[in-house]
Amino acid sequence: MIRLFVAIAFPDALRRRLATLCAGVRGAHWSNEENLHLTLRFIGEAPEDRYPDIVGALDRVRVPEFDLVLSGAGHFETRRRVRSLWIGVAPNPALFDLQERVDAALLRAGLPADNRRFTPHVTLARMSGAGVAPDVAAKWLSGVTMFRAPPLAVEHFTLFRSHLGHGGAHYEPLHEVPLAPRPGPGPG
Ligand code: 2AM
Repeated sequence: MIRLFVAIAFPDALRRRLATLCAGVRGAHWSNEENLHLTLRFIGEAPEDRYPDIVGALDRVRVPEFDLVLSGAGHFETRRRVRSLWIGVAPNPALFDLQERVDAALLRAGLPADNRRFTPHVTLARMSGAGVAPDVAAKWLSGVTMFRAPPLAVEHFTLFRSHLGHGGAHYEPLHEVPLAPRPGPGPG
């Protein structure tokens, strides 16, 4: 079995910038800089013989290139305990369109649906154990709420393999799918 997910990979400069935000919360396990990405679809454990079908399905996704702006911050919590901290995305219909098409392509390839609502985010920290109380994260959240990165031109998306290990996860890019060129300005 191989553990897979589909994501938008980031250039070094953006990852470096995000990494500067990774400090200041007790109990946080900050993401490694090289792991920072935006997940479009978590596939999970898939039999290796499904890999060609998955790649074939993703290769048929055709959407035009678009700009992505990382902006703002948020957290996920369960039972009033903060589980993760993340940077969000400025409203972006093109991103949702891409996510829906990736989802549909994988469904057609016979992979089970992921029924969770798509909440685009870049995880900067996961919390240890039972999570932390909301007030522990509140200061960090208020400090990064105004964060806004320069627009990133999204020219491809990537199928990643996740290797889980004691030193944390390592994400290996396996396959890149180019987006279509942006439509021109048209006549006139
Ligand atoms: P996260 O950042 O919110 O944890 C690789 O693990 C990527 O797949 C991460 O971006 C992770 O999202 C996402 N993912 C979604 N569902 C997952 C799950 N059930 N287990 C692990 N990762 C998941």
